[in-house]
Amino acid sequence: ITITWTASMAEKGGFKHFMLKEIYEQPRALSDTIRGRVLSDQGKIVFEEFGLTRDEMRRIEKIYLVACGTSYHACLIGEYIIENIAQIPVEVDIASEFRYRNIPFEKNSLFVAITQSGETADTLAALRYAKKFGVKTLSICNVLGSTASREADAVFYTHSGPEIGVASTKAFTCQIVALYILSIGLSIAKGVFPKIFIKNLLEELLLLPRMAEETLLLDKKIQLLAKEVYRKPNFLYLGRGVNYPVALEGALKLKEISYIHAEGYAAGEMKHGPIALVEEGFPVVFIASDDLYLEKTISNIEEIKARDGFIITISSSKEEKLKKLSDRFIYVEGINSYLNTVLFSIPLQLLAYHVALLRGCDVDQPRNLAKSVTVE
Ligand code: G6P
Repeated sequence: ITITWTASMAEKGGFKHFMLKEIYEQPRALSDTIRGRVLSDQGKIVFEEFGLTRDEMRRIEKIYLVACGTSYHACLIGEYIIENIAQIPVEVDIASEFRYRNIPFEKNSLFVAITQSGETADTLAALRYAKKFGVKTLSICNVLGSTASREADAVFYTHSGPEIGVASTKAFTCQIVALYILSIGLSIAKGVFPKIFIKNLLEELLLLPRMAEETLLLDKKIQLLAKEVYRKPNFLYLGRGVNYPVALEGALKLKEISYIHAEGYAAGEMKHGPIALVEEGFPVVFIASDDLYLEKTISNIEEIKARDGFIITISSSKEEKLKKLSDRFIYVEGINSYLNTVLFSIPLQLLAYHVALLRGCDVDQPRNLAKSVTVE
């Protein structure tokens, strides 16, 4: 037998790059992050890993979510999820800003550091800052035994498995799941919603790995789309509500690995600046769930259409008008608005990947970037 595989090819498990392998690992990573945490038949979750008793959880009045990079985008998504499901006010900040603020911490606050590596210097500094003020701390972390996991009062592990590609993919979607579970825990402790509502949210969570698998089937379609747009110098990503941070993350992915200038924006803010950029063929990626924001998003799409922008829509809605207005329409079978953020992220990751590949970029090790930034 002749072995034609090199060690590095074997590590990538048949994929061309770690990033692609990690994108494809998401169904398994999500399922491992959910497993053992959710008792959906009883409408319950396992509380232990949050390091708080149910009674302590019930008393939480304020949550700080702090991180850097992609993990910061998970925080922004978490803000919408926690405020809706647990009805606790959330403040999100970038770690390098948080640590230099003079925060008058409120009583019964919880500080959550979100970090894949558990070693990001600014996130660790923010964690230490919160601890100094006696605030209860939790880290949502992917690396066992990392500094953040050891220093926080409690740790909730995302079980994404090792993430090698510099641009974060599976760790990010698992962070969203961790925040979804945390928000349900807080909601149960506070008795915000009837049991049946919670049970539904948990049952929907169990659908996520399979739906992620289905979403990956879009790969071929995204590859064709990438061929149409990879020479464009600028991209705009727009979303509303919980999809606003999904837009930010979509833009970051593209920027990180393809070096195309990309901006994410809240769709409602489009008129206050970014619309000035739009001219014929300017690519605008819209992310829209089938929810109360849809109508508003459609009017934003109309505004881009009127200026001949090239509209790429990623949506869980089959609304005819939406399809008609879009130059390219990517339908994603949705679950609920919160979990759709995970599903929508998959075509956005794939788009960044294929565009970067066509531009001949080093996808796994983009220039000037590090997997873990251990300097401040
Ligand atoms: C670096 C990486 C990003 C990552 C960020 C935060 O900038 O290139 O992919 O999102 O650090 O890393 P963390 O390990 O704290 O999540």
